[in-house]
Amino acid sequence: MNYIGSKFKLSSWLDEEIRKVVGNDLSDKVFCDIFAGTGIVGRTFKPHVKKVIANDLEYYSYVLNRNYIGNHEKIKNQEELIEELNNLPLKRDLSIKIIAGAEEVIDSILKMKMAKELILFAKK
Ligand SMILES: C[S@@+](CC[C@H](N)C(=O)[O-])C[C@H]1O[C@@H](n2cnc3c(N)ncnc32)[C@H](O)[C@@H]1O
Repeated sequence: MNYIGSKFKLSSWLDEEIRKVVGNDLSDKVFCDIFAGTGIVGRTFKPHVKKVIANDLEYYSYVLNRNYIGNHEKIKNQEELIEELNNLPLKRDLSIKIIAGAEEVIDSILKMKMAKELILFAKK
C-alpha cells in the first residue's frame, strides 16, 4: 500500500543501520515494528529475522500485516478460493453506498458490467 507516511523508501537504509548496530546475522532476532502502518518495515526484515511483531492502533494495519507478516505459507487451494470470491453475488446495498455519485470513477476503474445499472438504481 502506497501512502504518504510509508517508510518504503527508508527500508533499505533502516536495514543497513540496524545491522550496523546489532550485527549482520539477524536470524536469532525478534523485530518489533511498533508503529507498523503498512508493514513495509517489518516485511523488509521478515526474511532475515526469527520473528516479526507488528503493532498498530489501526485496523487497516492489522489487515495488511496479518497478510504480509502473518501469512508465510502458500495457500494450497488458492485458485479455488479466488474462484469462490470472484463468484460471490454482488451486495446491492453496499455497492450503491460506495458508488453513488461516482460514475466516472466506477467507469474508469472498475469496468464492471453492473456498475452503470447500480448507479442508475442509486439515483432513483
Ligand atoms: C507513519 S505511519 C506508519 C509507518 C510505517 N512504518 C510504514 O512504513 O507504513 C504511523 C502509524 O502509527 C500508528 N500509530 C499512531 N499512534 C499509535 C499508537 N499510540 N499505538 C499504535 N500505533 C500508533 C498509526 O496508526 C500509523 O499506522
